Amino acid sequence: MPIHQLSNSLPIFTSITYLVAAVLFILSLKWLNGPSTARRGVLAGELGMAVAIAGTLVLPSIESFKWIIITLLLGTAVGVPIAVLTPMTAVPQRTALSHSFGGLAVGCVGVAEFFLWHAREPEKLTHFNVGVLCLEVLLGFLTFTGSLMAVAKLQELIPTRPMTYKGQNVINFILLGIAILLGVWLTVDPSQTALFLPFAVMAMIFGVLLILPIGGADMPTVIALLNSYAGLSASAMGFVLNNKMLIIAGTLDGASGFILSVIMCKAMNRSFTNVLFGAFGQVVAKGPDAKEQRSVRSAQAEEAAEILQSCSSVVIVPGYGMAVAQAQHKVRELYDALTKKGVDVKFGIHPVAGRMPGHMNVLLAEADIPYDQLYEMDDINPELPRTDVALIIGANDVTNPAARHDKSSPIYGMPIIDVDKASSVMVIKRSMNSGFAGIDNELYFMDKTLMLFGDAKTFVGDMVKAIAENH
Ligand code: TAP
Repeated sequence: MPIHQLSNSLPIFTSITYLVAAVLFILSLKWLNGPSTARRGVLAGELGMAVAIAGTLVLPSIESFKWIIITLLLGTAVGVPIAVLTPMTAVPQRTALSHSFGGLAVGCVGVAEFFLWHAREPEKLTHFNVGVLCLEVLLGFLTFTGSLMAVAKLQELIPTRPMTYKGQNVINFILLGIAILLGVWLTVDPSQTALFLPFAVMAMIFGVLLILPIGGADMPTVIALLNSYAGLSASAMGFVLNNKMLIIAGTLDGASGFILSVIMCKAMNRSFTNVLFGAFGQVVAKGPDAKEQRSVRSAQAEEAAEILQSCSSVVIVPGYGMAVAQAQHKVRELYDALTKKGVDVKFGIHPVAGRMPGHMNVLLAEADIPYDQLYEMDDINPELPRTDVALIIGANDVTNPAARHDKSSPIYGMPIIDVDKASSVMVIKRSMNSGFAGIDNELYFMDKTLMLFGDAKTFVGDMVKAIAENH
């Protein structure tokens, strides 16, 4: 089937399936907004995609199913193991890999379509069609290579630190400018076929260079942005192929990815330009001996358990370390043990705790912690001044009071969970090492803070044991 005939004169069944799929996609996004409806949201999205594929497969313009079946089988053979085997901590790179495949597919369709129009349907080479096709190819290929770079950084296949050199931003902009210029030239004069492949290659090179100066830990924000590009390129492909389903799904994807990256930037009090061009994380702001010179109070699991079970309210603030340690099930046991003792236990969830949006919600939901005990930052902060113990499990930056007052701090202005306002604070982490922002946390040196050094899973497990033995 020539791909450009995909949705000319749609059969009624296909039109209905596209409509149903569009509604399911919108509902899916709405339901994904809250932990209690998120599973339903995933199912709605999957069902929407299945319905859209079914509607496309009955198109009369399909001449043979051979290649469709082969590619469906291949895609399933690659996709299912990736989905099943990827650990939760590697979800950001898995997501980036999917965007990369999406960008490659969109880019390849664009290239094929351009040359097919030249060979068979020159009347389609209008300025509008070629302009949109160039946008599709530019966004598709830069998403392809950019996402692959993001995977490589997150998987530590290449150095995760920002790789910078003099004049980098200028060079990047010049390259993007050349790519855009070639695209405009092709739009004005579509007969310039020789320009097309250099244009596509420029887009790929720009994708690589765009990601080089961005640190590995900023990748989740960048991935959300690349997700948005992938959506926009799919939407452009929808115009090229005259397929309304692609336009709708691509636009939803583009808009939601963009909104997500804006939310993430806001929660970190960073601007887009700072994330994309700020080389954040390059300078590690550690005073070499500062930590050794300042003393902290620390305790063992038994002592910490004793304190926890004797108080009336505890707010648990999880962070990236809980994810690394996969401590969520032990945290659930601790929640059960303390609740049994009559302690009021709530969870304070920072919007950028961990390394991907909703990271903590996903982990705590996996451990079946009741949704109504999970409080967003703005809801838990007023509770903290009347809380006995704020128990921090593997979180660091999202609890650092420097964000409120230290104008020289890289996290200044980032809203935090006000754990320092609780009567006392306990922090489970393995060492005095810094978190993502690479800075010390003054919370650890406060008189009311007790450091609980150890791996989160082991330490929480030991506390649960101690509470049980005390029974
Ligand atoms: P971080 O500030 O990165 O701190 C995590 C802490 O966990 C570390 O200090 C580490 O200390 C500890 N840790 C690591 N492995 C551990 C283990 N096995 N057991 C116990 N503790 C362990 O994390 P956070 O507070 O969740 O903040 C997230 C940061 O990531 C923010 O700066 C945010 O801006 C950034 N960020 C987030 C996102 C999203 S969407 N969530 C996206 C981009 C950037 P030790 O090494 O001493 O154990």
